[in-house]
Amino acid sequence: MKKVALVTGAYQGIGRATCERLMAQDFHVIMADIQSCEYLAADYRTKGFSATNMRLDLAKSSIFPAIANSIEQQFGKLDVLINNAAILPDMGQHPSDLAEAVYRHVLEVNQIGPFLLTKALVPLLKKAPSARIVNVSSQVAQLAQLSDMNSPIKDDVCAAYQASKIGVNGNTVLFAKELEPLGIKVNSYCPGWVDTAMNTEELPDYGEEVRPKTPYEGADTAIWLATLDSNGPTASFFTDRDALNW
Ligand SMILES: NC(=O)c1ccc[n+]([C@@H]2O[C@H](COP(=O)([O-])OP(=O)(O)OC[C@H]3O[C@@H](n4cnc5c(N)ncnc54)[C@H](OP(=O)(O)O)[C@@H]3O)[C@@H](O)[C@H]2O)c1
Repeated sequence: MKKVALVTGAYQGIGRATCERLMAQDFHVIMADIQSCEYLAADYRTKGFSATNMRLDLAKSSIFPAIANSIEQQFGKLDVLINNAAILPDMGQHPSDLAEAVYRHVLEVNQIGPFLLTKALVPLLKKAPSARIVNVSSQVAQLAQLSDMNSPIKDDVCAAYQASKIGVNGNTVLFAKELEPLGIKVNSYCPGWVDTAMNTEELPDYGEEVRPKTPYEGADTAIWLATLDSNGPTASFFTDRDALNW
C-alpha cells in the first residue's frame, strides 16, 4: 500500500508544490484546503498520480473528527501530515496596531487549527509504521531573531502572524515529545522567501541575483522532513535542511 500524506493549503503555492513532490515519490496525497482541490486532484489522477481532495477550513475544528474518520475508512492510517496552510493579513502591523478580531482569527487558522487537526489525526499517525509531521513555520517567528534588535529582518513585522508561528513551533515540540517514544518525528521548517500569493506586497529591488524561490524549491525541506529515516531529527526547526535556533 502507498504511503498516505495529508497536506493543508494544497490548492496553491508551497502546499501544491509539496503535493506534487510527494506524488512524484509515489505517495497518495490528500489535498486539503479551504478552496476546492477537486479538479486539481482529478487532473493529477489523469496524469497517473494518486490524489484525492478534502475541503477543510482550519478555523472550523468541528469537522476534524469527520476528516479523521474518512481517512480511517479509506486508508486505515496516515503516514505524513504537513500543516502548511496559513494566512498573513497583518503585514506591517506591530502588536499595538492589531485589531483583536484579526489577532484571534490568525491564531485560529495558523496555530490552533493545526494543533487540533494534528490532535485529531494522531490516532491514524500512530497506525503508520513511521509517521512524520511537518509544521510550516517562518524565520520571522524565530525567537532568536525577534529578540535581536539588530536582526537584518527586524522590520518584517506582522505581529499576529509572528505570534501564530511561534505557537506553531510550540506545537512542534509538544507533539514531538509526546510521540518520540513511538518513533514519530515532528519538525518545523521555514521555506524561505517564496514567490506565492502570500507575498503580494511590493518587494525591494535586491538586484537580479536575489530572487524569491519557486514553490517547488520552497517545498524542498518539507519533502526531506516528510521522508526522514529513523535516525533523523525530531523537535527541531530547519531552513534549507539546516538547523535553526528557535
Ligand atoms: N511564501 C513565503 O515566502 C513564505 C515564507 C515563510 C513561510 N511561509 C509559510 O509557507 C506556508 C505556505 O505559504 P504560501 O506562501 O504557499 O501561501 P499561499 O500561496 O497563500 O497558500 C496558502 C493556501 O492555504 C489556504 N488557506 C487559507 N486559509 C485557510 C484555512 N482557514 N483553512 C485551510 N486552508 C486555508 C489558502 O487559501 P486562500 O487563498 O483562499 O486563502 C491557500 O490556498 C504557510 O504556512 C506560510 O506561512 C511562506
